[in-house]
Amino acid sequence: MAREKWASKLGFMLAAMGSAVGLGNIWRFSYVAGESGGGAFLILYLFFVLVIGVPLLLTEVSIGRKAQSDVIGSFAKLSPGTPWFLSGFFGVLASFLILSFYSVVAGWSMYYLWKYITGDFFSQPEGGYEAAFGGFISHAWQPLFWHAFFMVLTISIVYIGVKRGIEAANKIFMPTLAIILIGLAIYSVSLEGAVEGVKFLFQPDWSALSNPSVYLAAMGQAFFSLSLGMGAMLTYGSYLSKESKLPGATLGIGLMDTFFAVISGIVIFPAAFAFGISPGSGPPLVFITLPGIFEQMPVGGIVGLVFFFALTLASLSSSVSILEVPVAYFMRAFHWSRKMASILTGAIMFVLGLIVSLGFGIWSGFTPIGDRNIQGSMDFIASNILLPLGGLAMALFVGWYFKKSTALDATDLTGNPIGNIWYSIIKYIAPVLIILIFLNAVGILGM
Ligand code: PHE
Repeated sequence: MAREKWASKLGFMLAAMGSAVGLGNIWRFSYVAGESGGGAFLILYLFFVLVIGVPLLLTEVSIGRKAQSDVIGSFAKLSPGTPWFLSGFFGVLASFLILSFYSVVAGWSMYYLWKYITGDFFSQPEGGYEAAFGGFISHAWQPLFWHAFFMVLTISIVYIGVKRGIEAANKIFMPTLAIILIGLAIYSVSLEGAVEGVKFLFQPDWSALSNPSVYLAAMGQAFFSLSLGMGAMLTYGSYLSKESKLPGATLGIGLMDTFFAVISGIVIFPAAFAFGISPGSGPPLVFITLPGIFEQMPVGGIVGLVFFFALTLASLSSSVSILEVPVAYFMRAFHWSRKMASILTGAIMFVLGLIVSLGFGIWSGFTPIGDRNIQGSMDFIASNILLPLGGLAMALFVGWYFKKSTALDATDLTGNPIGNIWYSIIKYIAPVLIILIFLNAVGILGM
């Protein structure tokens, strides 16, 4: 069977942006920034996106396009008879860990959408939004139901084939999400007491930089948000043909993704300070802050409805890219049909997600790594360790295993003055930085 292909370069761009923009920009960015001190974290994050993220994104997509295979197959095909293909397993493993909690949180977003459809959240429920959210995530079956719902949607789209399902919807809902976020940001900074939140995000407290875990968190966030190091972008790149030029496309994806993160920060932190919600509230942060903003806005109920609809779709265009990684691998390596691969892998992730979800309820006392609950622990291993390791392997592969001319050709940088900069980044700078941050963070694991 011939491998699938994007209809056009635009199709790839939309799918890749769809993969990048999702819960990572809004939900994860806000709570990780909030827990890691705000402004100083933001600067580190921007630094990692620009210096490691975008060059690695180009590298990752180019490996897939050159090899025309999945994350494990691509290494195997380009370096036959070597152990390089083993690095692809970081990605497949990360995809299981990430999608299992991603689907749970996307389920929360769907539940909120439902609460805005019914009008229940137009005004504060008894006890306030924070208590309502706490009650929901620890409820015996409600979050499991929405997690199942989201997983079924993800499996269905991957089963139909990513390009047919997701391209069209993204064309409409990414701009919608951007417009709502800009509107919310303006509203949020105008709230009384919002200045403290603006300061929190943009006035770095440099003392935060003395904590090694902040560097690890900022690097992990850059990888997670750019869908980097797992093979999602590699797999999407493998459905591209050689004619499309990559450098501009990957820079565009990086900038777009960063815009969504920063603007989300401008929505969340001013409002959090205005409402007296701690920026360090962790994963619930956006779910307890946003409804408060909607409640105060004129026609906020409708804005909330559209917002959670757009957020759910943005999550869906990310989750399909995560599921596509193991599906593409199982289809090639074990000759499974797309149907069987998507249902089986999706089912395993669903079960893992049940464990994640219960970790916010009856199993919340279970903290496998440090004081992190089940979701936090899985996220830590996947985002802060496996993704950077996967990215490191890709950088070393293209920087050291390929000849320079091959590397430049694969990324469409032959004869381009940027070529040398990109090449020294992926050959030296990115690997050294990633290793340094790992070494710096050794020892924080158990604390
Ligand atoms: N980048 C996605 C987001 O921000 C999540 C993701 C991570 C997707 C890793 C693919 C790979 O929501």
